[in-house]
Parts: sequence; C-alpha cells; structure tokens
Amino acid sequence: MKFVAKTLHGLEDILIQELKDLGAKEINKLKRAVSFEGDKELLYRANYELRTAIRILKPIYNFTARSERQLYHKIFSYNWAMHFDNKKTIAISSSVYSDFFNHSQYVALKTKDAIVDQFRNKTGKRPDIDTRNPDIWLNVHVYEDEFTVSLDSSGNSLHRRGYRDMGHMAPLNEVLSAGMLLMAGYKGHRLFKDPMCGTGTNLFEAAMIAANIPAAYYRKDKYCFMNWNDYEESIFEKIKVEAEKKINREGVKIEGGDNNPSSINMTQDVIDELGFGDMIEIEKIPFKRNLPESEMGLMIMNPPYGERLKTNDIESFYAMIGDTLKNHYSGWSAWIISSNFDALKHIGLRPSFKTILFNGSLECKYQKFSMYQGSKKSKYNS
Ligand SMILES: C[S@@+](CC[C@H](N)C(=O)[O-])C[C@H]1O[C@@H](n2cnc3c(N)ncnc32)[C@H](O)[C@@H]1O
Repeated sequence: MKFVAKTLHGLEDILIQELKDLGAKEINKLKRAVSFEGDKELLYRANYELRTAIRILKPIYNFTARSERQLYHKIFSYNWAMHFDNKKTIAISSSVYSDFFNHSQYVALKTKDAIVDQFRNKTGKRPDIDTRNPDIWLNVHVYEDEFTVSLDSSGNSLHRRGYRDMGHMAPLNEVLSAGMLLMAGYKGHRLFKDPMCGTGTNLFEAAMIAANIPAAYYRKDKYCFMNWNDYEESIFEKIKVEAEKKINREGVKIEGGDNNPSSINMTQDVIDELGFGDMIEIEKIPFKRNLPESEMGLMIMNPPYGERLKTNDIESFYAMIGDTLKNHYSGWSAWIISSNFDALKHIGLRPSFKTILFNGSLECKYQKFSMYQGSKKSKYNS
C-alpha cells in the first residue's frame, strides 16, 4: 500500500530517515511530504512513532474530471462502504490547483454530496458531517483534471503530542522542534541544553528522543484509522507494547534555562506531571549568566525574534548571545533558529551549516555554530 506522510518545509530528509528506520519501502521525497510503501502495521507504527510527520494519508482513488457533473459521477461510482459505514461522521478537506475547478470548498462540497447520496441510496441512512472531530477524514487533491482522494489516517495533527496543554501560549510546533533536534544529530547520547526554553518544547522532544519514548506515547486524540472497516486493534496494541519496551531513560541529561519565571514554573509543572525530573533540570537564569558545567554538548535555542523590541536592543541581544557562546561554550555545537535575519548577523560568528525552516508562517534561518575548543578568537567557524 502507498502512503503519503506530510511534514513541514525543510524536514523532508529527516522524515525520510525516520521512515527508513521504521522499514518503509519505495520512499520518495515530495514537497512538504514523503511518499512510501508499507503494510497496515507500518501505517499504525508511523502514526505512533514518527516525530516529524504531521499526518499520514492513504491514497485510495485516482480519477480525472473536468466538470462538477463528472466529479459527482466519479465520486458516486466509487464504493465508499469498503472503507467505512454510514454510522461514521465524515469531513472532507481539499486542495485544488486547477483551471477546471477554482473553488476548493466547492470540490469538497460536491464530494460530500456524492458520498452522502450513495450511502442514502444504498442503506436509507447517510453519514453525518462533523468538521471538527470526524471519524473519517477524506482529503481531495486536484491537479488540473487529476483527482486523488485519500483517507487521512491520523485525524488530528500528529504534532499534538498530548504531553501538555498550552492553551493560549504559542510554543514551538513539536514537529518542528523534533526536526531541529534530529537535524542537529541528537540521539540522546550527549548533554542537551536549551537556555531560552520558554515552555520547554525542545526539552520535552529531546527527552522523548533520548529515552526512546514514542512520539504519540501521551497522545489523547484517537486516530482516524481506528474508524476504518479494516482496523485491527490487536496490531496497534502489539506496536504499542513493542515500542514501549524500548523506553530507556537512563543517562539522559537535559538542561533548560529561561529568564522568565512564569515560563520556568509552567515547564516545571509539566516535568513533574510527566515524571521527567530524572532527565530534565531547569533553572530561572539569564543566558549570559548560564555557564556550562560540561566541556561539550548540544545547544538549541529559539531566542525572541524581536517583534516587541527596538532594533538596537535586538541587535545587542543577539550580540550578547554570540559573546556568551564565544566566551564560555567552546567545545559545544549551538544551533539557533530565528526569523530575524538582520539580528542573526549580530551574533558575530560564521555558521557552519544553515537551512530555512518555518516557525508557523515565519520564514526562519536555522544555523549551526561549531564552537571549537581552545580557539576563542579565530576558529569558531568551520
Ligand atoms: C521564542 S521563546 C522560546 C519558546 C520555546 N521554544 C517554546 O517552545 O516555548 C524565547 C524565550 O527566551 C526567553 N528569554 C529572553 N531573553 C532571555 C535571556 N536573556 N536569557 C534567558 N532567556 C531569555 C524568553 O523568556 C522566552 O521564553
């Protein structure tokens, strides 16, 4: 069976590696997505374990149509009862890049009408629509006259790990955070530090990677694949048991800092709730006083981007980050993500690697600074 895992811009290669590790076959890189082949067990495992996937689609029906009538007819002629029954609630999302169809909502509406009419004709009862929390989520992708209808196996986005309820806060997306850690080569074998940890996303994702805790271990949302006709609970239970046997929290060392006491309190509450106190230690401390206890380690930092600061202030803030790294963190790898490209220049170090990632809609640079030991002035760059 073919599947398509969606991800964030720039994380496709990381997702490919994760899929290889799970044993996926025929892996192909797409734009913000990766296609792969596997069986039902792999699909469940991918939903449970992938850290950099947002959702996983199962394409089930390809056809061409150039008018509403043709679209309705093609959808009506497919046997939807193969996948789900009329007691399930459904929702349809669509993405349309076509000269034949210009309203994606209209495509979704026509698709819904044809599915609902088919069930009503055959069984006398139609499935209800639930756009918020449907049992069955269908995705219609249109490119010119080519349609692909997929079942969304995940339902609610896989970034919703379930380990904390941030309500109104805007932490880093968990998928982005995990992607940044994996891109930095983090496996849990060395000290990890986020000295501007805020609500702790990097700390929690790091702990889960290091201790082999599956990405969805704390997930509260059900997956849509559980509502498909072919769902096999025993397979999913087996996957969970196997993955949970591999959890090992020994030797994991993660440090967090932030100068905002309420962020520290909030993060500490989650650490306590999850019982992560043996892996993560946090402290209320400004970065320039947050000196390393170890000679080497990995740092990932998501500093303020300066929306609320004057230009001078944000420039000197980024210069302070550079100075602190230079003066105290030789031996470390420091990775910084920021949408403030001008401010990043004031760090005053040449990155040894850089790439573009998106924090929500903000285009960001994600840069690595290799801080060589014993070379305070000239060899920070590689
Ligand atoms: C963009 S937020 C980080 C959000 C975090 N990645 C998360 O997922 O919640 C930046 C954080 O840097 C902290 N911060 C700002 N200046 C700091 C400083 N001088 N020292 C330490 N932390 C600082 C802020 O309090 C804020 O929590």
